[in-house]
Amino acid sequence: MIYLDNSSSTFTKPKQVLKNVSLALSRYTANPGRSGHRLSIDAATMVTETRIKTSKMFNLGNENNVIFTSSCSAALNQAILGTAKMGGHVVCTENDHNSCLRPLEHLKQIGMIDYTVASQSCKGVLTREDIEKCLQPNTYMVIANHMSNVNGDMCDIEGVGKLCKERGLLFLVDAAQSGGHEIIDMQKDGIDFLTLAPHKGFYALQGLGVLLARKPELMQPITFGGTGTNSLELVQPLASPERFEVGTLPTPAIFGFSGGIDFVNENFSAIRDHLDDLTTFLHYEFSSLPVEIYTCVENSKGVFSFNIPSMHSTEVASYLDEKFGICVRGGYHCAAKKHEALGLLDQGAVRVSLSFFTSFSDVQKLVVAVKSLLKKQKINKK
Ligand code: ALA
Repeated sequence: MIYLDNSSSTFTKPKQVLKNVSLALSRYTANPGRSGHRLSIDAATMVTETRIKTSKMFNLGNENNVIFTSSCSAALNQAILGTAKMGGHVVCTENDHNSCLRPLEHLKQIGMIDYTVASQSCKGVLTREDIEKCLQPNTYMVIANHMSNVNGDMCDIEGVGKLCKERGLLFLVDAAQSGGHEIIDMQKDGIDFLTLAPHKGFYALQGLGVLLARKPELMQPITFGGTGTNSLELVQPLASPERFEVGTLPTPAIFGFSGGIDFVNENFSAIRDHLDDLTTFLHYEFSSLPVEIYTCVENSKGVFSFNIPSMHSTEVASYLDEKFGICVRGGYHCAAKKHEALGLLDQGAVRVSLSFFTSFSDVQKLVVAVKSLLKKQKINKK
């Protein structure tokens, strides 16, 4: 089996993650921040240490503002719904995932806000100018996907961050695909809210998302319940992170994420170089084939999309799986506007997504498999 669907979720996990998850299951199984006995305190200490590491990595400046959620989608929902302003306007981008677009559409449908989807005018990168064109007098927030999960297109978050600062707008960055692969400095880049999917670029477990909030006081909670603090009061506590974290935290996933941060910190350049080399190689090989490519060669970050003309992307993905044991994602990748912008509403796209653990031989086998499919298609046409 060759796993090339790492943008959905990474398959191979590094030893730092495996070790921490196993340790969490044997040592940190008590409820962090609830009971006050030694095992509970041990688990809570580990959770706090993970918050400190996360805050440091993205220069958030306060570990209490690292909020753990059940997924990156849940983190985006908290940031978007929690900051919604009656009568306000939001600018998002065509690269955004449905976990941004759907909460925005919900707010629009209940008559609370309006929003504009910014189009990307340059190849491969969404710029400050693309956003600027969409601003309105009542705009209060800009949302930008840092790296498209469909084809790896990027957003110039530094430029957009400057624009938001100049205009006094909140800036939310969805780093589900880029977190772990790109350097993101929340203070320097003027990012108010940043979301992460630890099971992707940090090679950690599913069931955990992260919201880093520089201005948590601007957010209302969207879930309510037990926090282990102020337990006799019926209102949600004011302090972050408890205000936004209800229910028992997924301790093994959090400790796994801590291992994932260590792995990324130890191998940051090597991961980037490897993804760059593999994507460039893939681009070079596919460029000589009669396929349509949707990924810019400059965005060699491990996400590569293509189609075989006259074949639906899901058919191609099924063929690669059934005949060659190669796992890729076909169809629509929960990013309605990007498929529309790329003209892929009928066909979807075949997405190949790589990881540090993908080998050159894996990629070569994919090239052979696609060549075989093209040959078969040619024979069938005769
Ligand atoms: N958003 C994930 C993907 O791109 C699940 O596949």
